Amino acid sequence: MAVRFPSAWLDALRERADIVQIVSSYVPLKKNGHRYVGLCPFHNEKTPSFNVDSQKQLYHCFGCKASGSVIQFIMEIERLDFPEAVAHLAELLHMPLPEMQNDPDYERRRTLKERIYLANQAAARLYHQMLWEPQGEAILSYLQRRGLSDTVIRRFGIGAATGASITKPLLDQGFTMEELTSAGLLYQREGRTGDMFRSRAIFPIIDAYGNVLGFGGRAMGEAQPKYLNTSDTPAFNKRYTVFAANLLRKAKGLTRVILVEGYMDVVALAQFGVEGVAATLGTALTPEQARMLSRYAPEVWLAYDGDSAGQHAILRGLSVLEAENIPCRVLDLPGGLDPDEYIRQQGVDAFYALRPISGVTYRLRREKEGFDLSNEEGRTAYAKAGASILKTVREPVELENYVKQLSFETGFSREVLLEQIGVTPRQQKLPQAKREALRNQINEVNSTDMTALTLLAALATGRLPAGAVSADEFLNPQLHAIAEALLRGQNMASIMESQPDAQGRALIATITEIQTPADDAGLRQMAQECLHRMRREQLDAELEEITRSLPNVPESERAAVHQQLMRVMQQRKDLD
Ligand code: CTP
Ligand code: MN
Repeated sequence: MAVRFPSAWLDALRERADIVQIVSSYVPLKKNGHRYVGLCPFHNEKTPSFNVDSQKQLYHCFGCKASGSVIQFIMEIERLDFPEAVAHLAELLHMPLPEMQNDPDYERRRTLKERIYLANQAAARLYHQMLWEPQGEAILSYLQRRGLSDTVIRRFGIGAATGASITKPLLDQGFTMEELTSAGLLYQREGRTGDMFRSRAIFPIIDAYGNVLGFGGRAMGEAQPKYLNTSDTPAFNKRYTVFAANLLRKAKGLTRVILVEGYMDVVALAQFGVEGVAATLGTALTPEQARMLSRYAPEVWLAYDGDSAGQHAILRGLSVLEAENIPCRVLDLPGGLDPDEYIRQQGVDAFYALRPISGVTYRLRREKEGFDLSNEEGRTAYAKAGASILKTVREPVELENYVKQLSFETGFSREVLLEQIGVTPRQQKLPQAKREALRNQINEVNSTDMTALTLLAALATGRLPAGAVSADEFLNPQLHAIAEALLRGQNMASIMESQPDAQGRALIATITEIQTPADDAGLRQMAQECLHRMRREQLDAELEEITRSLPNVPESERAAVHQQLMRVMQQRKDLD
């Protein structure tokens, strides 16, 4: 993890976040004691088994065993990594990130970033102004020739980099050469400086919070490169953002995000009223972009150009989305067209009439094109390739549909194809299988563990006298580590966050479920009983071990082992 937040600051964040309030904004919760109960957002259920504990600041689902702190809830539901989820909550709660408070370098970088945003915003205004001036005429008429309305030009803040430099006006506004160069608005090469963008239509790239991160510039006519993009700066990294993120955030209730290749595609679709469209910035889709898109709608549709470069990008994009478990489909544009060309040629109704197809259908379609199905060899090869694609299909009914189609196309029987695919009894959906394995694992917590977990629950109250329990009472390394953390004064939510996997998290959730006496005397007594039982069980195990080893002990060591046996037996007796 690149960012490490001070634990006291994280405690403050969790406290201020209040898990009940945060979770309630996603899931309706009903109060039940100090618990709140609702339908689990992480699996399908009809009766509520999702619990939020307002005291311990943890959630736990008895159905699927999902559990965690408020930060982990945000990670899961918004598909963010830990630092992102922390930043998200901090922003929501208006808590300054801790780095800002004491890291001078961070402060300097942050200031530069803010200056770049401001410089970019000023530049975007200038470019947009210039578009309507006589100097912008050629660029304006280019955009109009491509069918852009004045309204959509304004909506996207499209501008014109003309022959006139924007350097002087920006310097006049108080920006320095260094800031403008860092923003990528100016270049400095061999002692010469100049405007990065000249004679181009300018598309400002704006993030979800309204910051102008950079620009894409479309050359006039055939000038090269066709598009020039701001290269990465302290304020802009192409991997993490998409074009039109600002409009995605404004669109409400999207059922899908459409991802296209180009600036012009986003603008054209918007002009025809198609909302929720974004483009990657001349790079392949990254996992970070995929996760970000998944926040705005339950599905992502890939609508890249219908040419062969676009088709390859779709196959790669599908893999990225699937690896992130993001539901996705494909709008397969006919005739090698891009969405801009398609909607202008065929109209918006034709665009809406395009039905999204599944990743599997798309892959089969692409494979099929590679074979000559008029001969047996081609049909066999396609059947094999198709079967290999179908190995990924988990739902039996869906598989049946695909198999029927493949059988129709290749002439192989359904049974042969199923055999080629290698389906025997249905495999279960992976996440579900994993959850079930986890459930079994947790149900197997035996009585020894239960005693130890109860002792940890007592320890977690923070009300046991100092020195009453030592971490060394716990032989299981996982429990030992939890005890150490509790003795250091870490709270359950923070211990929850330090668990490396779902099993660890479920274990913490189990501990927090254990009821402990409200009065101190009762609590101390419970801890005493647990300690006793654990020690007894440890000694019993030791006795059993020694007894089992006795017959194989060499003559020379027999006396020593016997002595040890007597000692352990005595210790055991003392505990009765
Ligand atoms: N792109 C780029 N650099 C280039 C070419 C393309 O960054 N030299 C990116 C741009 O984001 C562009 C997208 O890739 O919008 C798609 O490229 P392409 O299909 O070639 O352009 P179109 O969007 O069709 O642009 P236009 O309609 O203006 O020709
Ligand atoms: Mn195009």
